[in-house]
Amino acid sequence: MLDADAATLPRDESAARLHAERPLAPALPLPQLYARVARHVTPAEWPLIARDVEAIERLKKERNAVVLGHNYQAPEIFNTVADIVGDSLALAREAVTVDADVIVMAGVHFMAETAKLLNPSKTVLMPDMKAGCSLAESITAADIRLLRERFPGVPVVTYVNTSAEVKAESDYCCTSGNAVKVVRHVAKEWGTNRILMLPDEFLAQNVQKEVPELELIAWKGHCEVHERFTPQDIRDLRENHPGVVVLAHPECPPEVVAEADYAGSTAGMADYVRDEKPARVVLITECSMADNVSVQHPDVEFVRPCNLCPHMRRITLPAIRRSLETMTHAVEIDPAIADRARLAVERMLAIR
Ligand code: 13P
Ligand code: SF4
Repeated sequence: MLDADAATLPRDESAARLHAERPLAPALPLPQLYARVARHVTPAEWPLIARDVEAIERLKKERNAVVLGHNYQAPEIFNTVADIVGDSLALAREAVTVDADVIVMAGVHFMAETAKLLNPSKTVLMPDMKAGCSLAESITAADIRLLRERFPGVPVVTYVNTSAEVKAESDYCCTSGNAVKVVRHVAKEWGTNRILMLPDEFLAQNVQKEVPELELIAWKGHCEVHERFTPQDIRDLRENHPGVVVLAHPECPPEVVAEADYAGSTAGMADYVRDEKPARVVLITECSMADNVSVQHPDVEFVRPCNLCPHMRRITLPAIRRSLETMTHAVEIDPAIADRARLAVERMLAIR
């Protein structure tokens, strides 16, 4: 068993894009796209998928649109129509620079809101408005206002997995890829050692281990995917798959992270596989991630326990196609809220 120190929290610069080198256009020919997804899509399924892919590529040109895809998207989205892929930090950063009139978010609602905050003049489309997030649901703007009354003068750092209303009540945002850096920055900037870090209790507890000099006050929000992993799961994986390297997302409970060899954002985990090339690896996170990372590392054996995020799964190729055909559902944010929420996101992005 490894001690807690072995599982260091995110490399700050780990917001890498798995396909950062992939040009926005032109799209690859269909046979090359099929080669990328052949392990997940049967030849019988491919013609239907290919029809949607072709239609989406045509619509992207007509609408001058790009598709941003989170690392948890299904392989047939991630490896075909997504122009830019990455963790939530990378998607937020890319949303600022993207050269298009329309952004389609192949991810969940808070990611689309973040893209809209950073691109108020662009149309940001969400293929399915019901693609939410248990963390974003766990806290409201009123909760933050109450916490501010209870902890006067204590800065509020909220995870990017929150609504625009919650961001508007926050001083800074953070993601799993930069949380340690953000709380250190805020502590210095505000001259305080107490920070409200909301709403992910486990992320706050995992970050707390990295910053013992600070006092992070947490909330009881949890990710419904990562909270299901247990330390016993990791011990069983090690026993059944000798030599397996365990990478965990910091939304997992701290006891799970303590059993892992490395903890980091989805991009941090992908970087780890790319840089360390473990012979056998398991990603303790949403299971589409392993499908996507494995495409680029055919020599690495991926052990695949499977916890799926039901919200990410709402995004499908037909939903993306419909979204571009009908230009729905456009994400709108009340300008009074957007201005304040944008500040919290921009303050985060300014920290390098
Ligand atoms: P990342 O920022 O690591 O991509 O995580 C987003 C998320 O929703 C994890 O559950
Ligand atoms: Fe939210 Fe968890 Fe799904 Fe990520 S995996 S979108 S944190 S519910």
